Amino acid sequence: VTVPTPLEAEIRRQIARNGPITVAHYMDLCLGHPEHGYYTTRDPLGRAGDFTTAPEISQMFGELIGLWAVAVWQQMGSPDGLRLVELGPGRGTLMADALRASKVVPGFCQAATVHLVEISEVLRQRQQDALREADVPVLWHDDLQNVPYGPSIILANEFFDALPVHQAVRQDDGWYERVVEIDGVDKLVFGIGRAPIAHFDGVLPRHLRQASVGAIYEWRTDSAVLEVGRRVAHGGAALIVDYGHVESALGDTFQAVRSHAFANPLIAPGQADITAHVDFQALATTAESVGAKALGPLQQAQFLRRIGIEHRAAVLKSQATREVAAEIDAARERLTARGPKGMGQLFKVLGLAHPALVTLPGFEA
Ligand SMILES: C[S@@+](CC[C@H](N)C(=O)[O-])C[C@H]1O[C@@H](n2cnc3c(N)ncnc32)[C@H](O)[C@@H]1O
Repeated sequence: VTVPTPLEAEIRRQIARNGPITVAHYMDLCLGHPEHGYYTTRDPLGRAGDFTTAPEISQMFGELIGLWAVAVWQQMGSPDGLRLVELGPGRGTLMADALRASKVVPGFCQAATVHLVEISEVLRQRQQDALREADVPVLWHDDLQNVPYGPSIILANEFFDALPVHQAVRQDDGWYERVVEIDGVDKLVFGIGRAPIAHFDGVLPRHLRQASVGAIYEWRTDSAVLEVGRRVAHGGAALIVDYGHVESALGDTFQAVRSHAFANPLIAPGQADITAHVDFQALATTAESVGAKALGPLQQAQFLRRIGIEHRAAVLKSQATREVAAEIDAARERLTARGPKGMGQLFKVLGLAHPALVTLPGFEA
């Protein structure tokens, strides 16, 4: 008999007391529980951790995004008091690389204040270390809502996939919310709610309403992207990078990853990363509903090529030993390759812009 993790014990108590919990609530507890949550208790990134992200693979990723931000700032008319915001900055690597690269354009760093939106104390510490040398003020917030309004450039890499996802399962008589419950032998298992979700067809995109029994539809609450959209519509732009689908689709993408391998999301809650794919159609539509203009999404490979990854790799290689040059090539390949091994196709990049900005770098037709 395995001893349940402290978080599993807590989840069992909640279910015993109040009944099954939604998949979204389960994910929220697993990742964000103040004491036992996955992100609250550790730095999960890197080779020794559970997963690796684009900025951790190569400095080129953050550098190119830094230059992208500078170009956007110039398009905005180079305003003073720029809020350079990052949602879920991990180890702070992307921001550190971006700020270093941005120094080629005088004025950007003087105009910018960095605002990091981060729930994890452990990662805030890492971010502080990474940005110690940055000569830009850096402020931390629990929520984008607490960042002061003003001209903003908002960055989010692998942030939305970590936000709680709801799942609905199609049955003969409607769609039921997928829940986590305790089965007869005391195991955490998936189940479905007691009654169909009322008016669910209103939530479901039209092209998905004819789903067959057993189909799963995933959605997230709108609050985070609504807030991003409002800020962009007030003045600025956003860049959202994540894995997911361009069009809303059916399918179960709820997954756990531990030590760089897939794991059962209902085993050892709080000890594994849990994510679900991002629905880029939903993000774009929601941001547009509050006045932002959506651009793309593009595949990550296409976006990185358009903003100069080949050139950046060549410059870095020209100053590198043969060994390091090979590493640079491998990183560029991993960031842009298609197929299951690479991130180039699975990852998408969505731009959001104030309507006065005709387009954004990389998204030109
Ligand atoms: C998958 S990591 C990505 C880290 C980083 N962007 C990168 O690419 O390396 C997700 C990040 O989002 C943070 N996070 C998760 N949920 C959050 C929330 N609700 N509010 C703010 N940050 C959150 C995590 O602590 C972590 O920094």
